[in-house]
Amino acid sequence: MRIVDWADDAEGGPAVVLIDQRALPQRTDQLHLGTVDEVIDAVRSLAVRGAPSLGITGAYAVALAAHRHGTATPDARAAVRADAERIATARPTAVPLSLGARRALSALAGGPAAVLAEARAVAAEAAEVHAAAAGRAADEVLRHCGPGPVRALTICNTGPLATGAVGTALGAIVELHGRGALAEALACETRPLLQGARLTVWELARAGVPHRLCVDSAGPAAIANGLVDVVLAGADRIAANGDVANKIGTYMLACAAARSGVPFMIVAPEETIDPGTPTGADIVVEERPGDEVREHAGTPMTLPGTPVYNPAFDVTPAELVTAIVTESRAWAPSPAPSAPAPRTAAAPR
Ligand code: MRU
Repeated sequence: MRIVDWADDAEGGPAVVLIDQRALPQRTDQLHLGTVDEVIDAVRSLAVRGAPSLGITGAYAVALAAHRHGTATPDARAAVRADAERIATARPTAVPLSLGARRALSALAGGPAAVLAEARAVAAEAAEVHAAAAGRAADEVLRHCGPGPVRALTICNTGPLATGAVGTALGAIVELHGRGALAEALACETRPLLQGARLTVWELARAGVPHRLCVDSAGPAAIANGLVDVVLAGADRIAANGDVANKIGTYMLACAAARSGVPFMIVAPEETIDPGTPTGADIVVEERPGDEVREHAGTPMTLPGTPVYNPAFDVTPAELVTAIVTESRAWAPSPAPSAPAPRTAAAPR
């Protein structure tokens, strides 16, 4: 089953079809979204999330707009453009969402079928791009850490659910496992919505990768205590200078990794590097609703109405990033201190 797909024959017309990531791992529910508003709701409520999966969703959502409005008249095309803008800005931080929407929109003159073909191309290319990035990242890990087996710490979810294909940072972890070079993946639970505990653990278990789960605040301690050989994370937006926006909690892992001389690597498609965003200070970090922190699964976690600070992402400065690995390169955005000397093989856990 694809994570994000298109259905021509859905009851009531064409639809964007998603696995509802809010229900995992308890249930694997599918959503059939027949309107752009429904897709935008799914994006905002994180039924679909993860930067590359948002890109594919954005592209299919524009195809949906083209099918719903048609493209034959100036008014219809203006309506598709307006929907594309709403889709592109449904969440502000991840670059691929707007890129996917705008790429599908670029085929507007060719009519709904052309827009859909462009959306399908976005989805198809993702598999190839992520596999290349994951393979290169696995090479890069072994170059820094020695032949392994390595213990990799990760945060949030960067596997098939987040990418629509093989995964980026998690793809590298699975690749290392496939090469017999992984001792363990340590997954941060990723408060407040538990993408690590719910989604990454589910994907690691399905892939047969040895893993443990830890609370987010145990991540830096695990690094300091010598339990981690490499930190692997994804990215929502990378500024031109190499500053990286990723799930809240990533920055503390980067700080701990730099202090302990552990490589900290970002694995992401090249398109995540945004030349229009000069530095991390220019990245718009999404602030999420306070109830995500005040409650868990409907159960209050604090006093009702407690004011909350709930940024979805943080920005890790380039100087803490050992390498940004994409489908086409491994880029060290800053020289020392984030380029620790090569380490010898990891001790077994
Ligand atoms: O809020 P989310 O779940 O969309 O955040 C996702 C992340 O931060 C991922 O780490 C990032 O998008 C990279 S996905 C390969």
